[in-house]
Amino acid sequence: MHILLLTSAFNSLTQRVQAELKDHGHTVAVELTHEDSPLRDVVRREDPDLVVAPFLKTAIPQDVWSVHTCLVVHPGPVGDRGPSSLDWAVHEGADEWGVTVLQANAEMDAGDVWASVACPLPPVAKSDLYRNEIADAAVEAVLLAVGRFASTTYTPAPQNSGAGDGCRPYFGQSLRRIDWQSDSTATVVRKLRGADSQPGVLDGLLGGEWFLHGGHPEFRLRGRPGEVVATRDGAICRATTDGAVWIPELRPRRTPGGPATFKLPATSALAGRLSAVPARPAPLHRTGHEDIWSEISYREEARTGFLSFSFRGGAMSTDQCERLLSAYRFACSRPTSVLVLGGGRDFFSNGIHLNVIEASADPGAESWANINAMDDLVEAVLTTTDRLVVSAMAGNAAAGGVMLALAADEVWCRAGAVLNPHYRLMGLYGSEYWTYTLPRRVGTAVADRLMQEARPVSSGAALRLGLVDRVIECGPQSFASEAGALASRLAALPATQSRVNAKKAEGDQVDLAPYREAELAHMHRIFADPQHPYHGLRRAFVRKERPASGTALHHTAHPQG
Ligand code: COA
Repeated sequence: MHILLLTSAFNSLTQRVQAELKDHGHTVAVELTHEDSPLRDVVRREDPDLVVAPFLKTAIPQDVWSVHTCLVVHPGPVGDRGPSSLDWAVHEGADEWGVTVLQANAEMDAGDVWASVACPLPPVAKSDLYRNEIADAAVEAVLLAVGRFASTTYTPAPQNSGAGDGCRPYFGQSLRRIDWQSDSTATVVRKLRGADSQPGVLDGLLGGEWFLHGGHPEFRLRGRPGEVVATRDGAICRATTDGAVWIPELRPRRTPGGPATFKLPATSALAGRLSAVPARPAPLHRTGHEDIWSEISYREEARTGFLSFSFRGGAMSTDQCERLLSAYRFACSRPTSVLVLGGGRDFFSNGIHLNVIEASADPGAESWANINAMDDLVEAVLTTTDRLVVSAMAGNAAAGGVMLALAADEVWCRAGAVLNPHYRLMGLYGSEYWTYTLPRRVGTAVADRLMQEARPVSSGAALRLGLVDRVIECGPQSFASEAGALASRLAALPATQSRVNAKKAEGDQVDLAPYREAELAHMHRIFADPQHPYHGLRRAFVRKERPASGTALHHTAHPQG
């Protein structure tokens, strides 16, 4: 079929639905909608067999849904309605949720049900759930609904006449407010997770007004409720009535008529206001099952090392790259034969940290520092010859983040991961040794195509292309243990040592320097030229300004391998 995706943003779910429908042999056109979108014209032009709306904030006009079947993805179970479904679910501590595919009609979320799929809701941030458990259920429900529509014999089920009872209001800041004098750690963490990554929780702190983004419980540190008692990995730790919470990012409240603000590591946002607060770094090497929050940690099981990292939005600043490189060097000093990178939940990496770059006094110079720090890290992985390195991608990766994964000997990803192995949408040539690793994996022609087309790639397509070696079919919560078991098995194989020996012989022959030099020459020209599109694209990206219509996101994807 020819399917038109109407979406308010080309977000991860839309990318995944697009990639999976394409994998199922459909042609897929994507149209970004906004209030003044000429939807009727687009639908007339595309003349689709079916319209699917994976993430739509505006209503579909009657003259569209009355002519074409339009299926709307609602991130809630049958009967749930309203614009803040997932916020309410996290707020209420639901551990089971679902996704429903409804037929658009005159009433929001009240149409006939084409498919509904249940999913678990583990205690993590809303956007993490959205990219993982909800996205898994949404893709399953969309494929089910599309199959049922194609069968022409399926009759969608009307919702109960009382469906309107399930309509819950918008989840505003008044519901999110933290009362530091009475809220427990569990309550504060739940409020922060329900608002993460957007819109954050509005709060006053150290003389400013901020949106707080992200939240992890802390069980050892104490202080006066609301007070900042420690810093770690760019995050601040604030005391609650019975413990404390780590808050990794802050966004200043926008002043009326002022420019759009954006998130930064909390310690950078509060620079100059935290002089008396002690840094409390976490131990890198974990030997027990201590529940200590940090961005990077290392543990071992028999002959396998696990270097886990989790950066907000998958973005890696110069400082984060340097800390990860230092942790990588530590991991390489340990007596293991297999080293696993990543492997927790959610994003693997999305490359250099565009927000930190944007906030710096000299974004060109900071871009340069950041890409060099990324390259140093990738080079360390590429030149590891005394053990096998495995990249375990629990979730999505893009740009330099994909190339970081490709530096390893084996690349594994979760079935739900979406990869964007290209840089073009940010106006960049790219580095991270991609000119060496990408053609080595997929061949020159496919590497060129991936770079030029700049499209999301599903895990299945990534496997067929040779971009990844293994797709792990499991839910987001079990990825770490599934990848861990596979890595331990790999470490125990007699063939592993001979692979390491072969790798050492090959590694000694490859001169990586020319690849880095050539890539960085391109990047230097881009960073040093204030008129280069990269600077405007970055500025718009971090401020979430809508891309102009007719950009590279607006395209038709054809089925392909
Ligand atoms: N730097 C800073 N923040 C980044 C980032 C980066 N490189 N990549 C992603 N993020 C942030 C987003 O701003 C977003 O923040 P939010 O949660 O506050 O909205 C969050 O991570 C998730 O990203 P989002 O764009 O909403 O996810 P998506 O799954 O819809 O799209 C990408 C994923 C990777 C396609 C998109 O984020 C992207 O193009 N990122 C930039 C990649 C890049 O060009 N990197 C630099 C070159 S190495």
